[in-house]
Amino acid sequence: MSQDLNRQEKYWDEKSRQFDAIYGHDKGAFSNWLDKVFRWDMYARYEYTMKNVAPIEGRSFLDVGCGTGRYALELARRGASRVVGIDISQKMLELARQRMSEERLDDRCRFEQFDLLHYQPGELFDVCIGIGLFDYIREPLPVLTRMRQVVKDRIVISVPRFWTWRAPVRKARLGMKGCDVFFYTKSNIRGLLKDAGFAKHTMEKIGQLYCITAYV
Ligand SMILES: C[S@@+](CC[C@H](N)C(=O)[O-])C[C@H]1O[C@@H](n2cnc3c(N)ncnc32)[C@H](O)[C@@H]1O
Repeated sequence: MSQDLNRQEKYWDEKSRQFDAIYGHDKGAFSNWLDKVFRWDMYARYEYTMKNVAPIEGRSFLDVGCGTGRYALELARRGASRVVGIDISQKMLELARQRMSEERLDDRCRFEQFDLLHYQPGELFDVCIGIGLFDYIREPLPVLTRMRQVVKDRIVISVPRFWTWRAPVRKARLGMKGCDVFFYTKSNIRGLLKDAGFAKHTMEKIGQLYCITAYV
């Protein structure tokens, strides 16, 4: 693993439980309230994703940067035929696997420690998602190109917007903790998707994010 990936892995290993608690709303009343006010777009991108990956039933999914499996497991619950989640953080994956076993979703779901550029699936997926991933990708073009190579239908991704008050604050705050963060403009994304070989896309501004569906 590169030095960059090692730093990311360490950061997310340490943050796994704290990150997962954002979805569980089990942080304590004040922190839950802060999440609702300042992270509402994280919940909105979840709704966006479930809507834009449809139909889910009977289709296969690759979740890149799957974290604790909140998306991958929901896709399995909603009838996906097969879901593979990959992530560089072992601790994030442990939580995903634990939940998968508790809910007996192992027949449809698998979680593996990989970064996409080193992952050789040996199959094509109907849909690939990358939610909250591109914030941490220094060179997005190879990752988007690889996503394009492993899907039959579309990808659904979120990227953090460049022109927001939170971008510099986040860059400084996470940078101090050893986690580099990257931001994107609309034209930036359009160029990347075109260069990666996507035929068309739609883009929605949701809070501090762009949520994007790009078609093969
Ligand atoms: C903000 S979390 C998002 C997790 C999940 N997609 C979600 O939205 O709940 C970002 C995740 O991306 C993973 N990650 C960062 N760089 C990665 C890479 N190059 N390949 C795979 N995963 C990566 C991190 O380990 C972390 O689990």
